[in-house]
Amino acid sequence: MSKNEAHGAITHDNHAALWHGRFAEGPDAAAVEFETSIYVDERMAFDDIQGSKAHAQMLCNQKIISPKENEEIQQGLSSIESDLKSGKLLIDYSAEDIHSFIEATLTDRIGESGRKLHTGRSRNDQIALDERLYLRRAIPDLQKTIASVIKTLTDIAIQHKETLLTGYTHMQHAQPVTLCHHLCAWAWMLVRDWQRLSDSLKRISTSPLGSGALAGSGLNLDRESVAKDLGFEGVTENSLDSVSDRDYCIEFTSDFSILQMHLSRMCEEIVYWSTTEFGFVELSEKWSTGSSIMPQKKNPDFAELIRGRTGRVYGSLFNLLTMMKGLPLSYNRDMQEDKAPLFEALDCVKANLTVFQEMVSTAKWNTQKMALSCEGGFANATDVADYLVTKGMPFRNAHSVAAQCVRLALDTKRSAIEELSLSELKSISPLFEEDLFKKITSHACMSARKTTGGPSPVQTEKQCKKLLEFCEGKC
Ligand code: ARG
Repeated sequence: MSKNEAHGAITHDNHAALWHGRFAEGPDAAAVEFETSIYVDERMAFDDIQGSKAHAQMLCNQKIISPKENEEIQQGLSSIESDLKSGKLLIDYSAEDIHSFIEATLTDRIGESGRKLHTGRSRNDQIALDERLYLRRAIPDLQKTIASVIKTLTDIAIQHKETLLTGYTHMQHAQPVTLCHHLCAWAWMLVRDWQRLSDSLKRISTSPLGSGALAGSGLNLDRESVAKDLGFEGVTENSLDSVSDRDYCIEFTSDFSILQMHLSRMCEEIVYWSTTEFGFVELSEKWSTGSSIMPQKKNPDFAELIRGRTGRVYGSLFNLLTMMKGLPLSYNRDMQEDKAPLFEALDCVKANLTVFQEMVSTAKWNTQKMALSCEGGFANATDVADYLVTKGMPFRNAHSVAAQCVRLALDTKRSAIEELSLSELKSISPLFEEDLFKKITSHACMSARKTTGGPSPVQTEKQCKKLLEFCEGKC
């Protein structure tokens, strides 16, 4: 006699679908294959166990299950956890999802008590909980990687406070900056990405557990205590909303999309900075590839792949937005499709950050080429105007005078304002004096820009310090 029969129950197949009872026929094998999510949600196994343990403890505290049953459930779940970790227990991919697999395995191991675990719970609130628990682990881990990339960029930046580099607008020479200034700009983008993730984490600080399938429970559950036990700040407010909300998937994937957009822009710069024409950076051989036909080639494929994978991340965002757009309340099976895009986007940005960090930290920065880029492009024309402003000329007039200097240089086939003689300059404005030439060297122009956030080493020093302070304890 089986244990079930002893309790007067029909014999159960622990591994049948959790909902098989009302069906006379089992599902078609192709149907099972079509609907399973275990290949995607298996990564939430430990979160599922954590949620189940807390749920069982609450059921016990509320006297819905006995202390003995709770004890068996706790031990059974712990053994599943350790056996999954050690590899002694392998996931059964014929299960419908990770929740079914863990519950079935538990009942295999502890018998009848295992059948009490799902009391007052639905997979609808269970999955919403598991996703939050998973993200609560994965996001801080991603933030750690982001902080580490910020640190790498800042460490390089610090060494290049004096390394001149042309700053561009419209991809045209604009004003001289430094490599330090430029790398810090990259780092600040990532700081915002880090912060955005923290903001989004705040919105998953409430527990949906106890929302049941959609309408809560008639049993005396204590949602607040189980939420507290799981480290949440409180509980979600509405059971219908709790099981049908996937805002957090969309929100994190949009955070990933912004982060990915930043990485893609940085990689775009690395790609053209490594061209023969620019030559600002030389990527290490470890993080470059060659060509199967052109023996000379050394290609920035890794920067291109990071840039190219933006499609995956944005695709995930659009996948989620589209999947959710027409869904009536509350849970609909469409929502099972949330995990693949969420995880794909997460994995993609994580891998991209790591590769980006390696690529950047092993790159050689061609400081001579960078400095050269500042010359002969009239990047000091604003400074010529500012010179006249300091002599009392209204800026609008000074702009026009500096423009005339550029015009004269171009007309007389000279590539820089400083190639004009003082008398030529004086013929445009008598305010020009010999001291102009010292004030419009690229270095002087760059270091004069001492406004907060500017490229002057006095300022970039402060930026680097702030960035390092930001990274402290985060990576
Ligand atoms: N695998 C499902 C999902 O991810 C779990 C919830 C199933 N709920 C249901 N009513 N079929 O959404």
